[in-house]
Amino acid sequence: MLVTRGNRLYKTSRNRRRSRMVKPIHVLSGPNLNLLGTREPEIYGKDTLDDVRTRCEARAAARGLSVVFRQSNHEGVLIDWVQEARTEACALVINPAGYGHTSIALLDALKTLNIPVIECHLSNPAAREDFRRHTFVSLAATGIVSGFGAASYELAIEAAAGLVGAN
Ligand code: DQA
Repeated sequence: MLVTRGNRLYKTSRNRRRSRMVKPIHVLSGPNLNLLGTREPEIYGKDTLDDVRTRCEARAAARGLSVVFRQSNHEGVLIDWVQEARTEACALVINPAGYGHTSIALLDALKTLNIPVIECHLSNPAAREDFRRHTFVSLAATGIVSGFGAASYELAIEAAAGLVGAN
């Protein structure tokens, strides 16, 4: 059962008096998203990645949850963080950026997770160039949020919170 104390979410069990704090939602962003705000703002918007982080933290806090928010331009680093989420996260939100379209290794890592995986894109790749219409990552995603700019991340947090039973 999930209960709130203050504004934090805890998991209790019938047999145990003690309760455990629910793990954070891990939010990963892939290559070039560090340039958000200046990179093709007509497609990706004017919000910086720090703005996105603030919005994610606020959304999660409203549900009694916290986020671990990270970005890397390196495929192997992202894979290490996906593997870390196996034990350290209650859910994973990932904007794989360009690697979504190319990385079978990232897909393989995501397939090892037993937690909800929300794929997230600022733009709507399905409405763009042909090569963006396929993402390997989608094969391991519980669901996909795309096309809402920075709000895609917030909607992904909402989806993750719902899937882990936060109210
Ligand atoms: C993106 C879409 C991808 O096609 C692109 O390579 C990105 C960003 C998005 O958030 O809209 O880098 O994932």
